[in-house]
Amino acid sequence: MKDIFDECQFGDLKLKGRVVRTGTWETETEEGGFLSPAIFDRYEKIASSGTGLIISEIFALDYKDRFAPYSSSLNYKGFIKDYKIISEICHDNDVPILGQLAFFYYDDGDNQKAEANDLTLEGIRKLQAEVIMAAKKFSFAGFDGIQINMGNNFYLTRFINPYFNQREDQYGGSTENRVRIASEIIKVIKKTMDMHVSIRINPWDVRNGGITADESIAIAKELEKAGADSIQLTARTISFLYDGAEKNPFLVYVDRLIDEIDIPVILGGNSRDMASMNDVLNHTDVEFMSMSKPFVAQANFLADWKANGEGVSICQSCNNCYSKKTSTCFKYE
Ligand SMILES: Cc1cc2nc3c(=O)[nH]c(=O)nc-3n(C[C@H](O)[C@H](O)[C@H](O)COP(=O)(O)O)c2cc1C
Repeated sequence: MKDIFDECQFGDLKLKGRVVRTGTWETETEEGGFLSPAIFDRYEKIASSGTGLIISEIFALDYKDRFAPYSSSLNYKGFIKDYKIISEICHDNDVPILGQLAFFYYDDGDNQKAEANDLTLEGIRKLQAEVIMAAKKFSFAGFDGIQINMGNNFYLTRFINPYFNQREDQYGGSTENRVRIASEIIKVIKKTMDMHVSIRINPWDVRNGGITADESIAIAKELEKAGADSIQLTARTISFLYDGAEKNPFLVYVDRLIDEIDIPVILGGNSRDMASMNDVLNHTDVEFMSMSKPFVAQANFLADWKANGEGVSICQSCNNCYSKKTSTCFKYE
């Protein structure tokens, strides 16, 4: 029987449990460009309560590449100082932390919002070099790895999506070609740094002519071949609508994905109680489950779940923390 608090291996990382605190923006930089002390307390609570792995908030390559003013960038003044403290907090609790990179726009030098079809080969090389340097910067700040968000509607997601990418060179056309921009980045990071590389992808795209579930599995395989250490799925569809008789199509997709690749897969979204999460773990091949909003509502709730062997999050899924972009709970904090 699998349990959310099982110690387990996650690629090259050893985890104290199967629960992943997934990427959650902080939006609490104080004047002067440093994180407010409350963020360090939040990380201490999350890391000390039984979380297996923490993924940071999203960082864009640069301020102008952020998708919204509330999201952060690797170029904010306090990044290395603040995240050295945060990675130490995690490591003191034996919890690895990945830094999440997600940029919405890309400035290739000529065009501040260059899309997949506009990028020159030089632009592609510049982008790749900047992502590789971002991994280096995460490593300087003490992170155990990088998570490149190629899900939702972020830049690299659009680049690999045939709906947006009609390039006729080696970066367009087949799945392998469209993923090449990312595969080449992963290969260099794996070759030159001791960093876990995780990728967040969409299970499918709703656009006509976009990425299908079959192609999303082919993309995951390409990323694995390039050296990716884990895959996290974005969570718009789910979560455990497993009713014991017939599986939700998303879980069918997940089982197929897990069957076809050999690196760990993180599933998440709407997980709110320990019994249902253990049910998913024991009725599917899923081994790792992510949560975001429950940690916003109560940073250390897992400690109670662990002590009691059961538990339900106080999160009401009102989604105000998301829609108001403050990352604070409107009901409990
Ligand atoms: C306040 C808030 C901030 C978020 N920030 C990020 C982020 O920085 N990066 C990311 O990939 N997803 C982000 N998400 C999405 C979560 O990672 C997660 O996929 C989503 O909330 C569904 O999971 P949940 O039901 O456990 O909250 C955020 C969600 C919330 C509520």
